[in-house]
Amino acid sequence: MITYVSTANPGFAPYAMEELRRRIKGTKVSGLAPGETFSFTTGDNDPEQVLKDLRRNEPIFLRHIFPIEAEKDVMNSPDKTAEVLKEYAASLGERVKGRKVAIQVRKEQSSPFPYSSAEGRDIIIPVIEELGGESVARDADWIVSIYASKKMIYMGCSLPSDNLSDWPGGAVRFRKDEGVISRAAFKLLEAERAFNLPLDQFSYALDLGAAPGGWTSVLLERGLKVTAVDPAEMDPSLELHPRLRHMRRNAADISFAPGSFDLLVCDMSWDPHHTCRIVSELAPVLSAGGSGIITLKLMHRKPFQSIQDLMEDYGQVFDIRKVKQLFHNREEVTMWVKRK
Ligand SMILES: C[S@@+](CC[C@H](N)C(=O)[O-])C[C@H]1O[C@@H](n2cnc3c(N)ncnc32)[C@H](O)[C@@H]1O
Repeated sequence: MITYVSTANPGFAPYAMEELRRRIKGTKVSGLAPGETFSFTTGDNDPEQVLKDLRRNEPIFLRHIFPIEAEKDVMNSPDKTAEVLKEYAASLGERVKGRKVAIQVRKEQSSPFPYSSAEGRDIIIPVIEELGGESVARDADWIVSIYASKKMIYMGCSLPSDNLSDWPGGAVRFRKDEGVISRAAFKLLEAERAFNLPLDQFSYALDLGAAPGGWTSVLLERGLKVTAVDPAEMDPSLELHPRLRHMRRNAADISFAPGSFDLLVCDMSWDPHHTCRIVSELAPVLSAGGSGIITLKLMHRKPFQSIQDLMEDYGQVFDIRKVKQLFHNREEVTMWVKRK
């Protein structure tokens, strides 16, 4: 049996736990940091099969996992804590020899763990290098994960793909200047990675609820021609862009010739069921096999019921490829669909 440290967006751990309970017979879940971090076991199931299933069909609210290979009581003594970290790193031996290794150290806010992430990494790096491993920040062969809760230090080493995200705790970070116009741009940048859907493969995008233009700016940067629909103003830096057409209209009142776009994105701040009706009516404007990236607002809580209802409705006209709560989603999830 394997126990995993798992992370969800703040407040959404109960839903991630519920998803796992529904999927993994006999799993035991236990909170580590309220609302955000918890552990679950693979129960009596084949751990490899459990992991395969989680990777193939990713739960919506589970952002990141790593397997616990060692655990120790958390201490506030810097020396003793350093010993614990070094001892675990030394136990990795042959596994890290000649390999690129990322070290990710996180702690719960109220944990007495005496080091910051960077300090924790600096303790482990020399041990990894002594073993013949190369310390890297990205594109690692292995990820060494350390998580300190209020009571325990959990340690594990796993393949990046087996963590569901290769970012510490699944917290994807972009440089501030990458999404210049609004924080919302990070959602689209993250969706591009999470869905493995390079945006530069598309040519004509329809952006519904586009203002002030964070998503539009990402699409323009990727070289697409963008039709942005929003009664609100776009950022002045975009208005004269030669590949942008801004329609100051309600998305419910527009129409285009069938197959006009190969990408539809929608981040409208509105009731998700109204949004679904608008987007579904516009589905024919997507060419066959075209993609849609749509934010689903979870307005009334009860997220499972809302998501299921919305998936049924969107499923009438789209193939639903993936629904995921991204790190940059707040009270919402992001869905990737393809035109049937
Ligand atoms: C969260 S903001 C979108 C942010 C945008 N994705 C970005 O990256 O800057 C939501 C936008 O949806 C727009 N909106 C809401 N209902 C709409 C509708 N029926 N038609 C068009 N736009 C709508 C609002 O005017 C608002 O600008």
